Amino acid sequence: MNVAIFLAAACLLLTGCSGPQSALNPAGSQASNISHLWWVYFTVTAVVYVLTMLFLLLSVRPRQPRSTNLEPITTPDPHREGRVLVVIGSAIGVTTVILFVLLFADLFTTRALGSLSSVGTNALSIKIIGHQWWWEVQYTDPVPSNYVTTANELHLPVGKPVMVQLASSDVIHSFWVPNLHGKKDLIPGHPTTNWLRATRVGNFRGQCAEFCGYQHAQMRLAVTVDPEDKFNEWLTAQKQEAPQPQTDIQKRGQDVFLSTTCVMCHTIQGTPAFGRIGPDLTHIASRPWLGAGARPNNPATRAAWIQNSQHIKPGVHMPQHNLPAEELQALLNYLDILK
Ligand code: CUA
Repeated sequence: MNVAIFLAAACLLLTGCSGPQSALNPAGSQASNISHLWWVYFTVTAVVYVLTMLFLLLSVRPRQPRSTNLEPITTPDPHREGRVLVVIGSAIGVTTVILFVLLFADLFTTRALGSLSSVGTNALSIKIIGHQWWWEVQYTDPVPSNYVTTANELHLPVGKPVMVQLASSDVIHSFWVPNLHGKKDLIPGHPTTNWLRATRVGNFRGQCAEFCGYQHAQMRLAVTVDPEDKFNEWLTAQKQEAPQPQTDIQKRGQDVFLSTTCVMCHTIQGTPAFGRIGPDLTHIASRPWLGAGARPNNPATRAAWIQNSQHIKPGVHMPQHNLPAEELQALLNYLDILK
């Protein structure tokens, strides 16, 4: 039974370790340092645990039954006393050494985590703002019109240091992409920065790591690490304004968007929609998820989300819309071109 539980736990650990949301499957220089530290702690504590259990078992093993007559009290054997002192002294010495090893491993890791911040101006600068319950991601640029704003997705070039500026619009959130870096809080009124560098391409998942209300669990971030040219391609596409509607139904859809409450919360670059409460929808159709990972992003889930987002993500700040079927269809056709 115990063996079965152990094997199940080992399988879970190994499959979980290699996933897109695992601190033990590092794809970033910060995460590598953290996972090395984790393995040092794991190995040391596992060895200590096994040794402790071994000595415990030895001490409680069955012995020969003693005779009922009490043994006569004898004077302590000085040799035996000396041996006991040596054993206890060595155990204390070894424990102290182990604690110092862990302390220094911790200090070196903390130092290594801070070392990226010395790379200077070559770094990419990204601003991430936490909202209940979604991520606003801005790629800053000296030219304001080149700013890119997206939501719940983070694209990074492989190998390049990134300075992430963190802020919150409401409560404390925590930015964590386990494969890339350690946790960092987003504190209202107190911007912070975190440095990271992805070391291999791939798709990873981030998750808010600080309880921030009802839908804290549905506050995910899709992370894509690409070669630099592919990343630049993506960034250039995101800098474009939204495509203009071509067909009648797309034009009707844009009218619906601009004449209903959508426009009060959302931005679509290239239109009069400049709402700042909800996610920027300029390139909504190119994103993998809806509602910060609540659903995959496709026309069917977009329809369900518009009509009744509360059903999908209870408590979300997006109100329910009861659009007539014709208006909804037109709106979906319009949103579909926002790639
Ligand atoms: Cu945001 Cu938890």
